[in-house]
Amino acid sequence: MNTGRIGTAGWLKSLCAIVGLTATVASAETIVVYGASGRVGEVIVAEALQRGHDVIGVSRNPDSLAIEAPNFSAVQGDVTSLESMLEIIAGVDAVVITVRGLGPGNTPEEAVTSIAAETFVEATGVLGQEAPRVIQVGGGTTLRVNGEYGFDNPEIEPGTPQHANAFGHWQAIEAYAAADGLQWAVLTPPPGAMSPAAPGERTGDYRLGGEDVLYDATGDSTITMADFAVAVLDEAEAAQSLNRRAAVGPPE
Ligand SMILES: NC(=O)c1ccc[n+]([C@@H]2O[C@H](COP(=O)([O-])OP(=O)(O)OC[C@H]3O[C@@H](n4cnc5c(N)ncnc54)[C@H](OP(=O)(O)O)[C@@H]3O)[C@@H](O)[C@H]2O)c1
Repeated sequence: MNTGRIGTAGWLKSLCAIVGLTATVASAETIVVYGASGRVGEVIVAEALQRGHDVIGVSRNPDSLAIEAPNFSAVQGDVTSLESMLEIIAGVDAVVITVRGLGPGNTPEEAVTSIAAETFVEATGVLGQEAPRVIQVGGGTTLRVNGEYGFDNPEIEPGTPQHANAFGHWQAIEAYAAADGLQWAVLTPPPGAMSPAAPGERTGDYRLGGEDVLYDATGDSTITMADFAVAVLDEAEAAQSLNRRAAVGPPE
């Protein structure tokens, strides 16, 4: 397990400073990815590595992160533990949280997504000005279709995994929005539209919106995981949706 923090991007910046050039890697150079072993997380890690960032993948079992790249390191961590998070995120540029939503008890309060956001808010309180930006992957049921939020579907009943997942994502947004002194974004793919079995091609094209599911001219809301990862890395580099939530969808 490699826990070194300085890699390709840091060297590139130093070299460019010496020779008076602007580094091609933008503001977020070292990026922590919680959920790097997950279906969405592994695609985000690949996009970040391909752009030359230093990536720290976090897992409760870091041996599962079999990613061979000089600018990748794996660390053990729990996104629900403040102590663990402080050790990992201090001094990095951006943090991506793309974790499995469900906690042990099928309640929104126990959802890993909502506890992760609350833990990040607490960590920011400790780190102050030094705190990194956070980009959390949202859940499609927090978006609206024809003015109705997905989680208002009466079939999503309290006590079910679907309810905990939907409202866990919602509580994560509320935790960030209520916090002061935080730099955050929740980027949300369209509901059910990113098939884990078919990550799809990377076109590099996507559109950012607000609370509503985005559709292209044919009425399709689909975006591939690879293009969603492009949106997440663009956010990490350039903060296009600072302190708000944004739907990510296909171009018009
Ligand atoms: N259309 C949509 O709206 C849509 C589609 C896909 C995904 N999503 C959202 O995107 C996120 C990621 O989805 P996914 O399918 O990639 O998830 P996943 O594969 O089920 O899980 C992602 C990772 O979460 C990590 N994790 C769970 N509890 C953790 C903890 N306490 N500390 C640290 N890591 C923890 C696990 O890593 P370790 O076991 O290695 O620790 C796991 O690999 C979810 O929030 C999901 O709801 C939304």
